[in-house]
Amino acid sequence: MYASLKSIGGYAPKNILSNADLEKMVDTTDEWIEKRTGIKERRIASKDEDTSDLGVKAALLAIERAGIDKDEIDLIICATLSPDYLCMPSTACVIAGKLDIQNVMAFDISAACSGFVYMLSMAKAFIESGAKKNILLIGAEKISSVVDYTDRGTCILFGDGAGAAIIGVTEDKNEAIIDIHASADGRYGDLLITPGCGSKYPCSQETLDKKLNFIKMSGNDVYKIAVKTLTSDVIDILESNNLSVSQIDHFIPHQANFRIIEAVRAKLDFPVEKTVLTVAKYGNTSAASIPMAINDAYEEGRIKKGDLMLLDTFGGGFTWASALVRFGGN
Ligand code: UT7
Repeated sequence: MYASLKSIGGYAPKNILSNADLEKMVDTTDEWIEKRTGIKERRIASKDEDTSDLGVKAALLAIERAGIDKDEIDLIICATLSPDYLCMPSTACVIAGKLDIQNVMAFDISAACSGFVYMLSMAKAFIESGAKKNILLIGAEKISSVVDYTDRGTCILFGDGAGAAIIGVTEDKNEAIIDIHASADGRYGDLLITPGCGSKYPCSQETLDKKLNFIKMSGNDVYKIAVKTLTSDVIDILESNNLSVSQIDHFIPHQANFRIIEAVRAKLDFPVEKTVLTVAKYGNTSAASIPMAINDAYEEGRIKKGDLMLLDTFGGGFTWASALVRFGGN
């Protein structure tokens, strides 16, 4: 028995925040943003759209495309750094409620931008052990709720959105999730952090006045470590599976910054046409970034059953992960 990525879904909110809009909010320019990040615009959820609502829309597509009944789902995991509620209920439970799925195990994970690939590794273990049969994974972010729109170092980067996948069982190795490497190094936690409103700095007027409830990032430090780690991550997983770049059908990296992706792509010699890029239109959607990118490529007709995808991600923690996944859907 193998675990298989049976389907993908995605959702991008309708409201667009362009670089021109940001020029009116902070001291920046369209030219600077595009040159340094490749981002042209990002999507922003409306006031009455919660992270769970974005997740539900992506999940409904994934469930429909998997051709299963929602009540066949026996595990729901949601990765997010912008949950509906800080502590409880989990966004996965809220999503289960909104999908009207009962008697299901449901919980969130916290692995920042690496969330989707981290969840994939958990789903693989649950399926291969025989514990679960149909797992719904959701990466959903209303990051606009934790972004400081007076901080030009972060507000130009992030956007809202969601991606979802159904992980099921297969006996066919050509439709299986082959391997996943996931890791972390907590020494770098302070470089990308939302310090406030946890137990260390509980929510108070002082916490809010100091804007500790928003994402803080040492951008350039993160940038350098991201390029290095994303590159070595790919080399490791390819080598340990005796695969070469030419055997990969789709390179799907975390969409944080075009320059980061380009540096990794060029170093590893991945052809541009095999590299999936969504950063220009969505910005960095954290845990939703990889499944949204898979979904876009799928909807464009680029991804077919059996295709070999290489996922590569990096985020706060620091966390990072790579995965070799054969697409098991139709
Ligand atoms: O998803 C998790 C992983 N996250 C990432 O991978 C993000 C990694 N970091 C980055 O993408 C980049 O570091 C940024 C896009 C955030 C910044 O680009 P950079 O090339 O590293 O710029 P920098 O931070 O070294 O700043 C260069 C200059 C500074 O001015 P001075 O000190 O040289 O005068 C900044 O103040 O650019 C300035 N700057 C800006 N200027 C216009 C910083 N942000 C902006 C801005 N508009 N939005």
